[in-house]
Amino acid sequence: MKKAKLLMILLSAFCVWSCTNDSEADLVEIEQEQGPDEGDTDGITYENTVRAIVQNNCVGCHNDPPRNGAPFALVSFQQVSARANNMLSAMSRQNGAAGAMPPVGRLPQNTIDQIQEWIDNGLPEN
Ligand code: HEC
Repeated sequence: MKKAKLLMILLSAFCVWSCTNDSEADLVEIEQEQGPDEGDTDGITYENTVRAIVQNNCVGCHNDPPRNGAPFALVSFQQVSARANNMLSAMSRQNGAAGAMPPVGRLPQNTIDQIQEWIDNGLPEN
């Protein structure tokens, strides 16, 4: 009788331990799915994605103040979010088309898709 009780306690302890472990593993998996991996357009915000795209490809000319004949700055969140639709349209133009941005050549389609997704998400800052 004592042995059986001990066995029950051990079994339930094992059950709690394995269930806890399972759900922890599930949580980690979900977290990884939500991050904006390369090629992924989910969860795009200004801070986690858009700022770096603009910094690397646009601010050379669209600085504050702008250089090289660029007509406006794209440095702050306010400046970029106010021009998001303009930016997407200029970035989507084919190489050589008037106003295609950046002038050196079209960015990878995935980068353009990330701007599209940011607009679809409602232009979140964070
Ligand atoms: C080498 C300098 C340079 C870089 C880099 C650059 N631009 Fe421009 N941009 C210009 C100039 C000059 C104009 C005005 C003349 C024109 O429209 O071609 C302009 C115009 C624009 C316009 C208005 C175009 C229109 O017809 O409505 C937008 C929007 C724009 N840029 C966005 C961007 C974005 C977004 C990037 C980065 C992906 C970028 N630019 C990178 C120089 C640059």
